[in-house]
Amino acid sequence: MDRMQFDAKALQSRLTGRRIGCRLHYEETVDSTNRIALELARVGAPEGTVVLADRQTAGRGRMQRSWQSPPGCNLYLSIILRPTIPQQEASQITLMTGLAAAEAVSEACPEGRVGIKWPNDIMVKGEKLAGILTESSCDRERILYVILGIGVNVNFPRELMPESIRGIATSLLILGGKAVDRSAFVLQLIQNLERCYGELEEGGFSFLAERWAGFFRLKGKRVRVQMLEQAILGKAMGIDIDGALILEDERGFVQRIIAGEVIPMES
Ligand code: BTN
Repeated sequence: MDRMQFDAKALQSRLTGRRIGCRLHYEETVDSTNRIALELARVGAPEGTVVLADRQTAGRGRMQRSWQSPPGCNLYLSIILRPTIPQQEASQITLMTGLAAAEAVSEACPEGRVGIKWPNDIMVKGEKLAGILTESSCDRERILYVILGIGVNVNFPRELMPESIRGIATSLLILGGKAVDRSAFVLQLIQNLERCYGELEEGGFSFLAERWAGFFRLKGKRVRVQMLEQAILGKAMGIDIDGALILEDERGFVQRIIAGEVIPMES
């Protein structure tokens, strides 16, 4: 654990003038940075507002799961975006965030081969290092705001992990054997996000697809894709230029999956 608190003033001064990070709300303890960011977005907080906390008491994960958020070691942040892309392309924001996080993790963790488990779990050596929860609000025509909630296990020691995630979660500390500076990491992550978001706006997901595919480790592997009520078994083929997962199902038909959870059936 680094136990060092974030220096919110120093972080804000490094972020001033940037599109993402133009406003930083730092709190030592919150229930969920996503909940706070949603509240701020609802009352008009500008794009680029970042909510950062040292600890969450009710960190939210995907699929109604919780996210382990002990103090003094990890990153819990939520970012408000107000994208102008069409509603049906909103999932590309999630994929873009996964790419920005994977690039930041690769820089901080040269000893591990970083992968993105579609749509956006950041994995190293088969264990999860970071997760992303996007929550959004739309009206009939457009996206009003998107909250990017990012949790990264930075200096999470294995002995502090509850039994439920031991063996399926990892951290930069576990991988590299030494503590990583959380403030430097969050600045790098925000910088990557700003760059990837700009690229997405400029050229659409096709601008990012090749780099994203470089982190796809399931090509040719058997997977189960869990969607709301339905699951499909098949072979993962890759991602399409719009970010959809391409799967060859058991009858040999190619399917495009827009949303779901991928469970690898082999290592
Ligand atoms: C997942 O299930 O993989 C997504 C986890 C997302 C966790 C982050 S931590 C910061 C932000 N606030 C939350 O309550 N959740 C997200």
